[in-house]
Amino acid sequence: TAPLRVGIAGLGTVGAGVLKLLATQGDLLARRVGRPMVVTSVSARDRNRDRGVDLSSVRWYDNAVDLASDDQVDVVVELIGGSDGIAARTVETALAHGKHVVTANKALLAHHGTALATQAEAQGLTLAFEAAVAGGIPVIKGLREGLAANQVREVHGILNGTCNYILTEMRTTGRDFGDVLAEAQAKGYAEADPSFDIDGVDAAHKLAILTSVAFGTRVDFANVHVEGIRHISALDIDYAGQLGYRIKLLGIARRTENGIEQRVNPCMVPVGSLIAATDGVFNAVVADSDFADKVALVGRGAGAGPTASAVVADLVDIAIGRRTPTFAVPAGQLAPLTPAPLSAR
Ligand code: NDP
Ligand code: HSE
Repeated sequence: TAPLRVGIAGLGTVGAGVLKLLATQGDLLARRVGRPMVVTSVSARDRNRDRGVDLSSVRWYDNAVDLASDDQVDVVVELIGGSDGIAARTVETALAHGKHVVTANKALLAHHGTALATQAEAQGLTLAFEAAVAGGIPVIKGLREGLAANQVREVHGILNGTCNYILTEMRTTGRDFGDVLAEAQAKGYAEADPSFDIDGVDAAHKLAILTSVAFGTRVDFANVHVEGIRHISALDIDYAGQLGYRIKLLGIARRTENGIEQRVNPCMVPVGSLIAATDGVFNAVVADSDFADKVALVGRGAGAGPTASAVVADLVDIAIGRRTPTFAVPAGQLAPLTPAPLSAR
């Protein structure tokens, strides 16, 4: 059977992680999908940087947009990042050239998800993004496929590994905020601009995507209320602990009588709950729906291995020909989101 030919745009933490995973699991994946998955082309800024992966047999592109129109590529994997600019042009070009797209780029989807899904679906192409929300946790497939028979009432959880790592380290070791952030950056958890993490914007990007999948609404990042953890002090964490609470940055989307509420903010969570027990780089997502009741998923929310795992799971879907609407329903049927006023909680 013909191999699935993969082009990877972006060879940083996640891109290099995907190459390593494919090199390690090649035989296993070929057995599972019945055909090999072969990386034919790659792109990044610096051709000479050592990425710890063998690039000798792949075609190199200085410009990711050129990779996106390469005849020897069936699927473009966009791992550059950013809501506009080169990442957006790469994805649009790939779709315009009839190629499937896999991306981990939540910023891009939060701003342009509905339009890109419309463009992909109009041509019968897949736009897959499991890695964009909660790293290695299959939360998109869990909500979209696993809870397909339900009306979701609420989805909430810890959606940013960097913030959860910072809050956990501050609580358990008393380390300084900036010191732990620097470590999270060194581990490859943080965004290129870490203010996206600590100001709650990255969690808000992910929440906007989750809302669309959970409620069948257009992706509406503009209506997410966003607060981060910049102002949380060691004293706040200590006092919360004395009262029996952990401070966690949560994303919450819920259906109300007045529309859909989307919010990201630090919350006091009772010790003993699943969310309170989710520490370090781990994320947790809880969905509450009418027939399945509460379903929780927990796992590593950032880092090379977990994120690469989610990217390659999307490649498996494409290699097999497993198709679903990009979000919960076909893009043309996504309803506009009516924003509900913020509740007092
Ligand atoms: P990195 O900053 O580590 O890597 C970005 C890559 O993009 C680098 O290889 C860089 O090239 C390349 N790049 C930047 N500009 C260009 C350009 N103009 N043309 C071609 N390539 C370019 O980011 P991550 O790997 O951490 O993140 C990638 C994406 O995955 C982002 O959207 C991020 O939000 C998302 N993500 C990240 C997770 C993580 O844990 N890190 C988890 C989930 C999602 P060079 O190496 O030469 O500088
Ligand atoms: N910067 C993000 C985080 C990466 O820390 O959660 C995973 O999306």
